[in-house]
Amino acid sequence: MSLTVIDRVDAFRKAVDAERAAGRTVGLVPTMGALHAGHLSLMKRAALECDVVATSLFVNPLQFGPTEDLTAYPRDLEGDRTKTKAAGVSFLFAPSEAEMFPQPPLITVRVSGLSDRLEGAARPGHFDGVATVVTKLFAITGACRAYFGEKDYQQLAVIRHLVADLMLPVDVIGCPTVRDTDGLALSSRNAYLTAEERAVASTLYHALLAGRAAIEKDHETDPDTVRRVMTTVVEAEPRFVLDYAEVANGADLTPLARLNGEVRLLVAARLGRARLIDNLGAHA
Ligand code: PAF
Repeated sequence: MSLTVIDRVDAFRKAVDAERAAGRTVGLVPTMGALHAGHLSLMKRAALECDVVATSLFVNPLQFGPTEDLTAYPRDLEGDRTKTKAAGVSFLFAPSEAEMFPQPPLITVRVSGLSDRLEGAARPGHFDGVATVVTKLFAITGACRAYFGEKDYQQLAVIRHLVADLMLPVDVIGCPTVRDTDGLALSSRNAYLTAEERAVASTLYHALLAGRAAIEKDHETDPDTVRRVMTTVVEAEPRFVLDYAEVANGADLTPLARLNGEVRLLVAARLGRARLIDNLGAHA
């Protein structure tokens, strides 16, 4: 399988248009690079389900807050090129900022409500930045199946909404979170962890497991109790600064007065320089 690296919007659009014109289906895996096994699992799944796979690699400035890690965000184009080739990707679309934003954008794509809770409350404007750039990527790519990890569960929900509302010709496929052997969800930001921080980082996953056990084994239906169970696990590790430990409706992440049916447990916390997020489904 040969890999073509493309940095121009027109050239990428032409390449994927030609694939569809030849009757081939296109799988798209949007990324910000610094690829790890989680990203590669999306590419491999896309390669199984689509005739050709395209990966986009663009560190999107719109989704970083003014005090966030845009300049420090890990970048490794050469390493990413090798990994995408090995994962069976045909096109690596890696535009510059000037190519994606030849003029300051006047349009913001905003998924109301959903974008303001949880991660949206902690990172104002983050999901508007994600939704805007993903809409542009979909507009450039055209009809495709697009693969996203459940690790960013709220992002996945935002993208599903924008595709439905804007009637885009895109099938959004959510894929399971890939975890390290101790349960830590893979993330490009794990690179910020020191060895000591990495040793305790899976605490977040254990908090989610404790929350799920409270619901599924102890039949707990009070969201406050489940929140407390998760908070206790995170706060037992003093290096963490907890942002939120929540349990919400599994479909739209709205708060629940009583747990019933499919719910989502979500946690976010700072550990040293890294802000880590994770989530798990549970059936109440
Ligand atoms: O999940 C990511 O890596 C980014 O948020 C995405 C979807 C590529 C948009 O920049």
